Amino acid sequence: MTTGKFITFEGIDGAGKSTHLSFVAELLRARNKTVVVTREPGGTSLGEQLREILLHEKMHLETEALLMFAARREHIAQVIAPALERGDWVISDRFTDATFAYQGGGRKLERAKLDALEQWVHPHLQPDLTLLFDVPLDVARARLDATRTLDKFEQEKADFFAATRAEYLRRASEFPQRFHVIDSTQAIPTIQQQLRAIVAGIDA
Ligand SMILES: Nc1ncnc2c1ncn2[C@@H]1O[C@H](COP(=O)(O)OP(=O)(O)OP(=O)(O)O)[C@@H](O)[C@H]1O
Ligand SMILES: [Mg+2]
Repeated sequence: MTTGKFITFEGIDGAGKSTHLSFVAELLRARNKTVVVTREPGGTSLGEQLREILLHEKMHLETEALLMFAARREHIAQVIAPALERGDWVISDRFTDATFAYQGGGRKLERAKLDALEQWVHPHLQPDLTLLFDVPLDVARARLDATRTLDKFEQEKADFFAATRAEYLRRASEFPQRFHVIDSTQAIPTIQQQLRAIVAGIDA
């Protein structure tokens, strides 16, 4: 019986998460793993509908946090938990660290409220590995501006992203056993080499 692992990709908008997601999935498939790739907010039919609302509607910050966790509850129930029980590997583009970083760090919602929601929604589930793609804001901004129109979060000001990035880094030092911080200013092939080593380590 194989045991699947849960890998999350984190970082501010434009940090490089999506760029490296399929690369890591392919590395794992080459090691004969069954890999489920998913994302938050989203990952289910309900979750994707909530994503549209979350990325485009203005709302109270507590409503935003509650909807994030509502989408996550469904995501865990329908996708993440069943996959891990089957022994599959799960890669999610964002998970709960993002809610702490954006709604907690960026929007300043009290951490105790987020801790309570996390305890309610997934008291026992944590990622086995969290890859934090870290870049200065101006680098992320320049990459985003070059590619597409910006959603509600991407239109936030620099101080929002500074606080979001700081909260991500604070969590990385709080949970060093599962976080790997990747300097995402490096060239893509350099990052891929590092990802190869990290994946080999977690599948040892
Ligand atoms: N190391 C890198 N060097 C140069 N460009 C990069 C690097 N990583 C990503 N990019 C480019 O930056 C842009 C944003 O990357 P990507 O979409 O992967 O970010 P993201 O973290 O998924 O952002 P979002 O949170 O908005 O989905 C893309 O155009 C991508 O090609
Ligand atoms: Mg992305």
